[in-house]
Amino acid sequence: MPTPDKKVIDRIQGLREQINYHNYRYYVLDNPEISDAEYDRLFDELSGLEKKHPDLITPDSPTQRVGATPLEEFKTVRHSLPMLSLNKATSEAEFLDFHRKVLELSKPGEKKIRYTVEPKFDGLAVELVFNSGIFALGSTRGDGVVGEDVTLNVRTIKSIPLRLMGKPNPDLIEVRGEVIMNKEDFERLNKNREKMGQPLFANPRNAAAGSVRQLDPKVTSTRPLNLFAHGTGRVEGKRLANHWDSILYLKELGLKISQYVELCESVEQVKAYYEKILGLRNDLPYEIDGIVIKVNEFSLQEKMGEISRSPRWAVAWKFPAQQEHTRVKDIIVSVGRTGALTPVAMLEPVRVGGAEVSRASLHNEDEIEKKDVRIGDTVVIQRAGDVIPEVVKVVDSKRTGKERKFTMPDRCPVCGSKAERPLGEALHRCTGIACPAQIKENLAHFVSKEAMDMDGLGYKFLEQMVDKKIIQDQADLYFLKREDLMKMERMGDKLAENLLNAINESRSPSLTNLIYALGIRNVGYHLAGVLAKHFKSIDNLAQQTTEDLTQIHEIGPIVAESIYNFFHNPKNLRVLEKLRKGGVKFPAEKVETRVISLSGKTFVLTGGLDSFTRDEARKVIEDMGGRVSSSVSKKTDYVVVGKDPGSKYDSALKLGIQTLDEKDFKEMIGK
Ligand code: IVH
Repeated sequence: MPTPDKKVIDRIQGLREQINYHNYRYYVLDNPEISDAEYDRLFDELSGLEKKHPDLITPDSPTQRVGATPLEEFKTVRHSLPMLSLNKATSEAEFLDFHRKVLELSKPGEKKIRYTVEPKFDGLAVELVFNSGIFALGSTRGDGVVGEDVTLNVRTIKSIPLRLMGKPNPDLIEVRGEVIMNKEDFERLNKNREKMGQPLFANPRNAAAGSVRQLDPKVTSTRPLNLFAHGTGRVEGKRLANHWDSILYLKELGLKISQYVELCESVEQVKAYYEKILGLRNDLPYEIDGIVIKVNEFSLQEKMGEISRSPRWAVAWKFPAQQEHTRVKDIIVSVGRTGALTPVAMLEPVRVGGAEVSRASLHNEDEIEKKDVRIGDTVVIQRAGDVIPEVVKVVDSKRTGKERKFTMPDRCPVCGSKAERPLGEALHRCTGIACPAQIKENLAHFVSKEAMDMDGLGYKFLEQMVDKKIIQDQADLYFLKREDLMKMERMGDKLAENLLNAINESRSPSLTNLIYALGIRNVGYHLAGVLAKHFKSIDNLAQQTTEDLTQIHEIGPIVAESIYNFFHNPKNLRVLEKLRKGGVKFPAEKVETRVISLSGKTFVLTGGLDSFTRDEARKVIEDMGGRVSSSVSKKTDYVVVGKDPGSKYDSALKLGIQTLDEKDFKEMIGK
């Protein structure tokens, strides 16, 4: 390796400074000074020099934003000061209430209250830690106390400096802010995803959050994200007396600050600010859902304190949900993964608060009835922040009499099987076990990021594979050959190879991902994690009774029943077996203290055992929570068969009850 001379070192240093400066002009100030081509030239020169002198690469070099390999999972981070949430006001009266309390709590002493006011960004809250000016750690807000370590992803956001600008740098500063995606970028991203057959993001906030909570920083680096800093956590080596100064300070350090932060001296000014920002709302390139009003003086903030994780010195004055009128062109029925039939209003496309809306779920039959929505009706559509668009009500005055009532079909619109509305449920369900719609939805769930994570396998491909009968269930994916893939439209050699690689790489999932992938009704990602932690393996989970399952804090009877039913459905067991045969590794997270429970299991004993008398065997079963019955019925779980068994053995065979010989039985009880 050539020894770098001082000239090279200086050039590298100079290039970094220039690039950082132009990054700042472009991403933070939105006001570039040089052309893209000139910027690229500087960047390429720096990359070239660093390639020749890798020992001169530093982590804060602008070339080092991306590069890490994907993570298995995020580590957790404890915030040194909790990240609080905000109380809400939804009307002027509620804001004035807040102000009255501020006046009361500030007594005695404070006469004049000043408020810093700023937009409430609709994104993902993060904290960035800079040690002596160098970006060291990025984390999500999480539950406010503990978040996820997303440092590698946050590094790829160009409006975040890897090295702070101001001199001297504080010894330590924790910057808090919101990661957002601009509306235009969000729509472009979704258009691309649609082309690739990938699931769409519901709104810019979800797109931003999904991009930051990505295990592969390379993917995050392709997402157009931005960060608005709106406060500080711990600060060492710099004294700040109020929020306004801290915002100015963040700006000085090179962070992106909203151009709309203002200092108000009176409630009248705050009210005027609210009106102004509300008027600007639709013209802003990003989504906001209100304004945040903060008592400016830190001393006063401290005096007022917080209550149930929200400060008493700040409030979010939310904007009303955005509403528009449009016409219901049709009502269609979509079929979900679990066979649920959902009526969906197909709308004359309309822009609601910057996003185009062309469909809105009507949830179920009762909901349609309650709102009396008919085909042809003019309706009010509402979109509130991160909420999926909904039909608020029918505009009665626009009724012409030509509208048509909608009734739920009694057959599944996809497979034609009978649709039923189970007693006590609001939803109709398709009863077809081979319903292609259910299969497709299940597959889409199975391959998704938080499940088996088969990158590139979009909905359009899955749909074709099911329609062409190349696959019938999730496990079939693991038996796909190149020839099978080549039967699909728009498939080329390279793409087929990528897909086969993605499938192959998915063969070693984490237990949480695998449980989630199975698509057990009512088991989302969080619960999958809880189950993985408690039961350590699929086999162990499959053996639990509903009683065992409800022992876990977060699992109620409905979820327990879903899990139990899932593992007692022969079709699912076949798929599990096929997954194993297809080479999927069922991770067995180490079981340190195996607690064996026979709780809820009914045994019948027949024939003589070598190591136990009948009574001893009964006692062992009962001690472990099981029950012994004298006759075999459909409710029997196991028949223990010893020497010279009686007619109970025949009954077991007839009813298809699982039999255990003495060896099996001893294994089961851990002897
Ligand atoms: S200040 C105690 N300022 O709103 C101060 N938060 O509901 C709490 N948010 O998690 C944060 N824009 O992510 C603050 N200008 C702004 C904000 C803002 C959006 C988010 C933030 C927080 C949530 C609280």
